[in-house]
Amino acid sequence: MAEGSSLLQQLDAGLEQLFAGWSIYTTLLCLGLVTYLLYPVFFTRDPDTHPLLLARQCSPSYVRQPGESAVYRSLETPLSYPLKSGLNVKEPGAPRWAAGKDGDLRDVWKKALRGPIDDEGKPAGEPGKIYTVLGSEGVTEHRLSDVTKEINAVGEYLVQHGAKRVAIHVPNSIEFLVTLFAASFYSFVPVIVLQEQSSEALSDVLKTTHADTLITAAGSVSLQALLEQHPGLKQVIWVVERTSRHMDWNEVPEGVGGKAEIAVWHDIIEERKSLAPTGLPTYNVEKPPPNVFAVSQGALTKGYQVGEFTQHNIVAAIAAQLSVLPRPHRINSSDMLLSLAPLSSSYPLTIALAALYSNASLALTSVSGEKVPYDAAFRRVKPTIVIAAPSTIREACKTFREQPRGMLQKYAIWQQTKSLAEGIMPKLSSEHPRPRLIYTFESSDNRADPLTLAELEDLRLLTGARTAYAFTDAKVAGAIAQTSIYDYRRSEDGEQAAFGGPLSSVEFKLVDENGHKNSDEKALGKLVVTGPAVVGGETKVDRFMTVTDFNTLAYA
Ligand SMILES: *[C@@H]1O[C@H](CO)[C@@H](O)[C@H](O)[C@H]1NC(C)=O
Ligand SMILES: *[C@@H]1O[C@H](CO)[C@@H](O)[C@H](O)[C@H]1NC(C)=O
Repeated sequence: MAEGSSLLQQLDAGLEQLFAGWSIYTTLLCLGLVTYLLYPVFFTRDPDTHPLLLARQCSPSYVRQPGESAVYRSLETPLSYPLKSGLNVKEPGAPRWAAGKDGDLRDVWKKALRGPIDDEGKPAGEPGKIYTVLGSEGVTEHRLSDVTKEINAVGEYLVQHGAKRVAIHVPNSIEFLVTLFAASFYSFVPVIVLQEQSSEALSDVLKTTHADTLITAAGSVSLQALLEQHPGLKQVIWVVERTSRHMDWNEVPEGVGGKAEIAVWHDIIEERKSLAPTGLPTYNVEKPPPNVFAVSQGALTKGYQVGEFTQHNIVAAIAAQLSVLPRPHRINSSDMLLSLAPLSSSYPLTIALAALYSNASLALTSVSGEKVPYDAAFRRVKPTIVIAAPSTIREACKTFREQPRGMLQKYAIWQQTKSLAEGIMPKLSSEHPRPRLIYTFESSDNRADPLTLAELEDLRLLTGARTAYAFTDAKVAGAIAQTSIYDYRRSEDGEQAAFGGPLSSVEFKLVDENGHKNSDEKALGKLVVTGPAVVGGETKVDRFMTVTDFNTLAYA
């Protein structure tokens, strides 16, 4: 009894103290705390999408051939519909019901340059912009009309110098985009080469793809070694950083003289700037621009794969990326996209092109690749859409997980986790710049473990962004499959994340091989992908895969 009363006494004393020190701030604090704790009890939101759409993320065909699984298609293009083949490009003012063309890369630039227009074809806002993030020097802003001038200057130069196949060996930069679009307008073949190649690998790639011109960072490769191994190289264009432009880069090193012509990017632009038209060059709409070669490095084989994409492959992939986003989350003119993955991979490239096509802005940073930290995306710019390699995501999640947290922070995370489990994307406070969409992707020849469901959940808690996780292959433009941005599923154990349903530009099936057999209960086998985004129309991916209970593609 005595003990009990003394406890109460203590409590009372505590309360008295609390009330003695009570002030308007304590009241506000308490009110805030109570509102914060009770808010979710009284205001519940509907899940972001209908649960049935997550339970069946793509549509299988009703029959399957012997030795094969059913054919799986995107919910946007069920079996009786044609797969998405292009951008449905219409001239401004064309009637709504008129059928559009599939289009090509020239249409992408044309539309980006024109900017937003209203229903009558009148300008309805500023076109997007391109920003270059330079380490210490800050951010340079490029208007698309100025970039068009560069496209014309470089295009004309290359045509006059007889370039037929131009290797682009530069980081994510304005030079990369200018050369890519110049190739389409001026009809030469761009060969997009991944950076971080050894000198031998580079000359090997140039030889295999019969490149006659190389655009690369000044001094990044040994010209002599290149020319020895690939005498077919006729000219080299150095891209020189602002800080080293005072040096003479036109000089040909001794012993190499006469074999290859050397030019410097900024000289070409300077010389032709006043002459080059600011508008688009005139081009033959009927004549499709040449194919785009993309050279990717196999992580396992150490060899490389050359994907020869037709313009059709690329626009189909862009169109699929545009339409896969649910209407409220489409890329629009207030977005800025930044890729921490090299644009020489077709997946980041098609998303960047989709952003340009949607009047969004691009931010280009030359730091890109597997080892780049997530925070690098937010140096000096505030992108709303970020593309990053899985290793970048994994590192960011690890740091997030290990962060020390106070009680209320832990409670907030618990709330957000609960909200995700209910299918609702929580709104995070925004003291940091927050992207709204994050894309990441696993390439078929990358043998590292895919991201786990837990990691993808950490990513959502860390960033508040919706996430698409894609499965790509060197012979398919863009991606084969990609998770729904509404799929917030998680699991306690280390369960690997699946890749979602196919995009609308492809369909896939699994075929029996080496004892991996399809049955009525389970789809299991090597992945065969068909459709407008696939090089040659069909390819077999060298991976055993399966289809989950949610109709999503996953490693077997
Ligand atoms: C972007 O511009 C095109 C025309 O070039 C227009 O059709 C489209 O509606 C614009 N989109 C946005 C989101 O402003
Ligand atoms: C673009 O989309 C975002 C997110 O969906 C939205 O908040 C914003 O208002 C949109 N901007 C325009 C210009 O439509």
